[in-house]
Amino acid sequence: MPATVVVGCQWGDEGKGKVVDVLAAESDLVARFQGGSNAGHTVIIGDKKYVFHMLPSGVLHEGSRNLLGNGVVVDVASLVEEIEGLEKEGVDVMGRLLLSDQAHVILPFHRAHDSAGEESGRETKIGTTKRGIGLAYGDKFRRKGLRLCDFRHPDRFAARYRELSEYHDSIMKTLYGCEAPDPEEGLEQLMARRDRITALLCDGVTLVNDLLSAGKEVLCEGAQGVMLDIDHGTYPFVTSSSPTSGGACTGLGIPPTAIKRVIGIVKAYTTRVGEGPMPTELHGDEGERLRKAGGEFGATTGRPRRCGWFDAPVVRRAVQICGCTELCITKLDVLDDYETIPVCTNYDTPAGQTNVMPFDLEVTAAAKPVLEERKGWHSRTSGVTKRDDLPADAIAYLSRLETLAGAPVTIVSTGPARAATIPFAKV
Ligand code: GDP
Ligand code: IMO
Ligand code: MG
Repeated sequence: MPATVVVGCQWGDEGKGKVVDVLAAESDLVARFQGGSNAGHTVIIGDKKYVFHMLPSGVLHEGSRNLLGNGVVVDVASLVEEIEGLEKEGVDVMGRLLLSDQAHVILPFHRAHDSAGEESGRETKIGTTKRGIGLAYGDKFRRKGLRLCDFRHPDRFAARYRELSEYHDSIMKTLYGCEAPDPEEGLEQLMARRDRITALLCDGVTLVNDLLSAGKEVLCEGAQGVMLDIDHGTYPFVTSSSPTSGGACTGLGIPPTAIKRVIGIVKAYTTRVGEGPMPTELHGDEGERLRKAGGEFGATTGRPRRCGWFDAPVVRRAVQICGCTELCITKLDVLDDYETIPVCTNYDTPAGQTNVMPFDLEVTAAAKPVLEERKGWHSRTSGVTKRDDLPADAIAYLSRLETLAGAPVTIVSTGPARAATIPFAKV
């Protein structure tokens, strides 16, 4: 059996957690391939709400194994907190959770440095989650980072930790007039969790490839979304990893030929958290109405998400880059009360009309969405589980998104619960 990759096709928060949890029922392994504790993936089971920052969203299925791949940056404190939180609820993930020993570690000074940079006013504010993501990946790419395998050698770990802490401390002092956290305290906290971490380490590449060779189903879980990709997003207002399907190859060590399905997760409208361009953003009452209807507040930072209409050039670009074989449209139910629903098909730019997102920020800022009015269905789709129970105008809306995006819709989500999911073989 080949690998299936789940990717966010907008600016994150498309509902990947919910969909991965649903698909995990059929999977032998759920593997996160990039990002870190900046992710906030919500899974709702009955009246319980789980928000996973580090854990893969398959952990609630007792039969499935879960992996953090080499492309992930691991916040050890956040990971252990999540594991212990689940244990308190009677969900034991030990024995079902594995960590690639090549994954890099987010260290306390990465978080502090991220926050100091964002708050300094000296630099372009990205609106990061302040989880130290850019700094951890920065050290990885400078070839100075610490990996999970380094936990096996505590003396070497400590020496390199102190060295790296000094480096961040000197930058923070010089640029922001503040200090990195006390290295000994940070080390002590990490070492207190060392046994827990080393017990979970594995060679993720062998694990995933052996499963694939044995015909097992591997579900690769992306975090963030294509518009936050370090190469393909709205740079510099992006994250520091590759949330595309290509990121699944590098972040897990699987060949592109192993991937047979790429499911693009797409919200029926658009949201974004943090700074940066968002051509279809709605301001004032209109934005507030959509935010309220969709409950659009960040799962990691609690920040209100910026809300706007569906942006076809954004999704089309993501489909193109990821080679999405299919789409899952989420949060259709949020649009239930609208009489008409505008959809952005193109942008008007100083250079003329285009259906491609302009990535030169000056041009993006000047891009005005060209909106097409779609008829609302003005009835309840919330919780609907069958295609035939959807109003004709909702089907027409989905059909239009499918045409604009350039990939077929195979799943529709009509609520946060597992059951509120429609297998949608054909629109
Ligand atoms: P992720 O980061 O892509 O996993 O998405 P988040 O969990 O950050 O945000 C998605 C939010 O929408 C969560 O609160 C989900 O419980 C909720 N959600 C997911 N799918 C649906 C849906 O189809 N309808 C509604 N109303 N809410 C949904
Ligand atoms: P999930 O997986 C939405 C955004 C931040 C900021 C930018 C850089 O839940 O979809 P970072 O902390 O990564 O350096 O911040 O990226 N961002 C997300 N937005 N969903 C996410 O994850 C995000 N992870 C990062 O708001 O704009
Ligand atoms: Mg999220």
